[in-house]
Amino acid sequence: SGSCRAVVTSAAGWGRCMMAERRLLVLFGSQTGTAQDTAERVGREAKRRHLRCRVEALDSCDVANLIHEPLVVFVCATTGQGDPPDNMKMFWRFLFRKSLPAGSLCQLDYAVLGLGDSSYPKFNFVAKKLHKRLLQLGGNPLLPVALGDDQHDLGPDAVVDPWLVALWDKVLALYPLPPGLEIISPDVRLPPRYTLHYVPEESPWPGSERLQPAAPRAAPCELHPFAARVLANRRVTAQSHFQDVRLIEFDIAGSGITFSAGDVVMIQPQNCPEDVQQFCQLLRLEPHRRFVLEPTEPGTSLPPLLPQPCTIQYLVTHYLDISCVPRRSFFELLAYFSPNELEREKLQEFSSAQGQEELYSYCNRPRRTTLEALWDFPHTTCAIPADYLLDLIPRIRPRAFSIASSLLAHPERMQILVAVVRYKTRLSKPRRGLCSTWLASLSPDKGDVHVPLWVKKGGMKFPDDPAIPVIMIGPGTGVAPFRAAIQERVALGRTGNCLFFGCRHKSKDFYCQTEWEELVTKGFLTLFTAFSRDQGSVWLSSAGKVAGTRLESSRADKALTSFVWLDHEEKVYVQHRIRENGRLLWELLSSGNAHVYLAGNAKEMPAAVAEALQSVLQLEGGLSPSEAQEHLTALERSQRFQSETWS
Ligand code: 2AM
Repeated sequence: SGSCRAVVTSAAGWGRCMMAERRLLVLFGSQTGTAQDTAERVGREAKRRHLRCRVEALDSCDVANLIHEPLVVFVCATTGQGDPPDNMKMFWRFLFRKSLPAGSLCQLDYAVLGLGDSSYPKFNFVAKKLHKRLLQLGGNPLLPVALGDDQHDLGPDAVVDPWLVALWDKVLALYPLPPGLEIISPDVRLPPRYTLHYVPEESPWPGSERLQPAAPRAAPCELHPFAARVLANRRVTAQSHFQDVRLIEFDIAGSGITFSAGDVVMIQPQNCPEDVQQFCQLLRLEPHRRFVLEPTEPGTSLPPLLPQPCTIQYLVTHYLDISCVPRRSFFELLAYFSPNELEREKLQEFSSAQGQEELYSYCNRPRRTTLEALWDFPHTTCAIPADYLLDLIPRIRPRAFSIASSLLAHPERMQILVAVVRYKTRLSKPRRGLCSTWLASLSPDKGDVHVPLWVKKGGMKFPDDPAIPVIMIGPGTGVAPFRAAIQERVALGRTGNCLFFGCRHKSKDFYCQTEWEELVTKGFLTLFTAFSRDQGSVWLSSAGKVAGTRLESSRADKALTSFVWLDHEEKVYVQHRIRENGRLLWELLSSGNAHVYLAGNAKEMPAAVAEALQSVLQLEGGLSPSEAQEHLTALERSQRFQSETWS
């Protein structure tokens, strides 16, 4: 491998184990849990090879200590716009410090496993960049970087599996198994991470009080969320509309929480009582029994946010993600407990490399939940030892929502727009999003309901200079951060707010309509709407006019008062409105130095909007196609074009 590091094999024929312990550190940067799951898999495989192994989130480890690590595997996801996951952001900043000397990692053997989605433009950007930077700092790569891809039919494992085989070959060549030891066969089950000891009923139970609002010491965070009271939960789409969208309001008085437009709130959801009850029945767990956890290996920390002692009901409600689609590792572990041959064979098939296509059809395609999968293996399920619950089922992850209100307009309050996720697959029960379904079910009329939350700085920043106009493109719930920005800017008396909003029907899902109309009338807002499934269309302008019929002439004057209205037979999307109003946009961009913001569904919309913006630059700004593209990239680089998209 490396250049600085001498001696791979000494004269005696030993590997590096002569000089160093056989130890491996697995560091992960994970947003949705896939990278963490993969990192834990690397950890288990290392244990089977008798390596001393720790698996940690990048930001939980002291990166300055990397210089003392002989062997590190990095498992890193790439999120949205080529950004690192939240739990590696500090590491990311540290790693790219200019002051780090070039050879500082020359004793480090490393390998980078990336997890990404090739439908996004910056596919596996974080892993690639990390690999390059470690190399630059003198590290010795054991293997080329692995580029796992969600878009692959078999998921990222199609790349990860062969890469891991190659990794262990390299690692065992450097650190051969100590004499007399063999790789622990996959037939043998590894011990659980924690043992679960039941304790008497009367043991103190801090659980239910934990989430009561208390005087906070500092700003709430993942480890210390604030229990915000739900003040309102209102459906903002018509009952007859296919989609239920809620405007939910929280009381954050006394929380110490502050935020500005573009920031994001993280919400820790919980399982619904029926699912919790079913799960306990299936596994023959008694919901009210209390237990304490004890790590089986010294140095392992207890799971965050679980009180000790804890009840089974609390663990299942707040911690175990029984509604997520189970991963391969779930079936792998389940197979060990199976007393039933038929079930065991199926489980082993699902955990084998050859069984991945079938597992994908069983789990991912229909979006089968962990709870449903457990139903299908009844003999195995009732044989699961409670000790393994935390190895088997990942913890419920917090979900991010763009904040949709401003403290300047609603002091001590926070509002979010939530589209309740519900869809059909071939399974008969509709699929429901855990967090949005839970939030929609909360009813402030039935007593105090609290939601654990904290705020994260968002990716989008709005200009401080009051003279700079902002162009915001937010179809659907993509409008949420722009509602916050508009409220904030209006409270500061700023005009120059231009919003492109798209939805299906003016009468069904044009949420916040009256708010927008009022601002248009007052001259604070120029609004362009695209109703994709209405016959014809409506436009509004800062002059406050509403028109529903064809406008014959095309005018876009400086006062932002009018634009073309087209009678599309096909769907009308925000990108059509952008093209139609090219002259105005070009003027805002060229003379006004406007900033452009885009938020919403990550599928095809962002690319279509970028294309529309490029064509505006060409048609109105006279740029060539390549110049238009460069111009847009330059706007992005200088943060004058920012976007936040989600799937
Ligand atoms: P549709 O559902 O009729 O296709 C908010 O979801 C709005 O975004 C809806 O009007 C939706 O239209 C529209 N939308 C869907 N796909 C889009 C795309 N590729 N670009 C822009 N808007 C889109």
